[in-house]
Amino acid sequence: MEKKITIAIDGFSSTGKSTVARRLAKELGYVYVDTGAMYRAVTLYMMRKVFVSEGNFDEEAIIRHLPFINLKFVFNEDKGYGEIYLNDENVEEEIRYMEVSKHVSRVSALPKVRKMLVDQQQEMGKDKGVVMDGRDIGTVVFPDAELKIFMTASTEQRAKRRYDELMGRGDDISYEEVLKNVKDRDFMDSTREDSPLRKADDAIEFDNSTLELEEQFDKVLKIVKDKIAEVNS
Ligand code: DC
Repeated sequence: MEKKITIAIDGFSSTGKSTVARRLAKELGYVYVDTGAMYRAVTLYMMRKVFVSEGNFDEEAIIRHLPFINLKFVFNEDKGYGEIYLNDENVEEEIRYMEVSKHVSRVSALPKVRKMLVDQQQEMGKDKGVVMDGRDIGTVVFPDAELKIFMTASTEQRAKRRYDELMGRGDDISYEEVLKNVKDRDFMDSTREDSPLRKADDAIEFDNSTLELEEQFDKVLKIVKDKIAEVNS
């Protein structure tokens, strides 16, 4: 049987990581794990409890409540990927709202939150055959991943992508607000003390600003297939 590999895809928000990761998983018959969705779901839980809101961040309560959070991905046949469930409720859509985006970097900077989610991510990927995207997959979650990809794109392009996505969903939001959120999160995600976003030394960098989606995917797929062939040779 063909040996499977672990594929780690990291990068700033809205670089198109998840689109590439999902397609790759589908193409290879691998499991796709959106780790950003896990941090977002924890944040949503804390927002509902009002431990996190504009002007309030109750770190002690957040940590105390972590054991009450159960996360799982349930495969949606129509969509072709796993949707995230927070304590048995499908929150795939709600976690993408701007309010969650505003608070998620702060919640995900907490070491206890990271420890809990990294443990779960390592468990999900322990049998390989997984495509995982996030910020610290190649550096912390799977430092021994056979293939690491680091995606970049200009800030403006990423904000535009995110804005189009939110508008498509009917959100009432300005481009400036989205751009500010993207910049704020970039800053927090890359300067936090625990597992900041950085390119692993052995990651292959992809600048997604110029490449068309199709062209980019073909390039990534070729790299992946070469790597799988190498591992099986
Ligand atoms: O990929 P995303 O934009 O949905 O991620 C949301 C936030 O979650 C991101 O701003 C930082 C955090 N995150 C993280 O700290 N580590 C990960 N592996 C994935 C996401």
